[in-house]
Amino acid sequence: MEVVKIENLNKDFGNNKILKNISLSFTKGTVTTIIGPSGSGKSTLLRCINQLEFVTSGHMYFHDEDLTIQTTNVNAIRSKIGMVFQSFNLFNNLSVLENCTIGQIKVMKLSKEEATKTALIYLEKVGMTEFADRNVTTLSGGQKQRVAIARTLAMHPEVILFDEPTSSLDPEMVSGVLEVIKSIVSKEITFIVVTHEMSFAREVSDRVIFIDEGVIIEDNTSDYIFNNSPNTRLRKFLKT
Ligand SMILES: Nc1ncnc2c1ncn2[C@@H]1O[C@H](COP(=O)(O)OP(=O)(O)O)[C@@H](O)[C@H]1O
Ligand SMILES: [Mg+2]
Repeated sequence: MEVVKIENLNKDFGNNKILKNISLSFTKGTVTTIIGPSGSGKSTLLRCINQLEFVTSGHMYFHDEDLTIQTTNVNAIRSKIGMVFQSFNLFNNLSVLENCTIGQIKVMKLSKEEATKTALIYLEKVGMTEFADRNVTTLSGGQKQRVAIARTLAMHPEVILFDEPTSSLDPEMVSGVLEVIKSIVSKEITFIVVTHEMSFAREVSDRVIFIDEGVIIEDNTSDYIFNNSPNTRLRKFLKT
């Protein structure tokens, strides 16, 4: 089943063509990683899917719903398509627990009790139960990202977009967060992960997309991308 489908997507910023005629679809329960040089349009692609950017032309569907129609309920879609950012995007004035309940209460209209129960389940899953009452500003980067993952999971999303989730972490924090991401992979959730962690990408991906200058250069299995593709731009990027 195709959960997200993108057809002939173009995104310009002013006169700059950032994404050029992208067509992709994502099957339920799969893990896709997106790799490519800095500035190639990876974040812009995720931001278009999550409705943080308007597309210039083309269509994007979540199941049968056209996300490019401006009457689409953005909040409802964002609860179904969660996003984990490089810079965490937590609310610094709220506790760990409150960060994980606020979306459930405001968007999903759940009671505080229900939201708390769900939040605690996911905080446990990411190993952050004991920090539930802490202010997020007191946490390390790795801990913040684990909270951000719990917050996203608490919305019971169908799709999770990760935009370089470990890029702003101190090196010693990276593997813990990658382990958490691996542990939440399931057949119920569709994962789209932008990452520079190539061994992680190699290990978890059902599919790897290499994007360069706003164009999809390769879209294939992890084995093909890392071991077999003769594409010179890809080989140069991977230095293999
Ligand atoms: N809001 C914006 N306004 C203008 N240019 C932007 C904006 N966001 C991104 N860009 C440009 O789009 C290009 C792709 O950026 P981005 O999607 O962030 O790349 P990546 O995530 O692959 O590093 C870059 O040249 C960047 O400067
Ligand atoms: Mg980026």
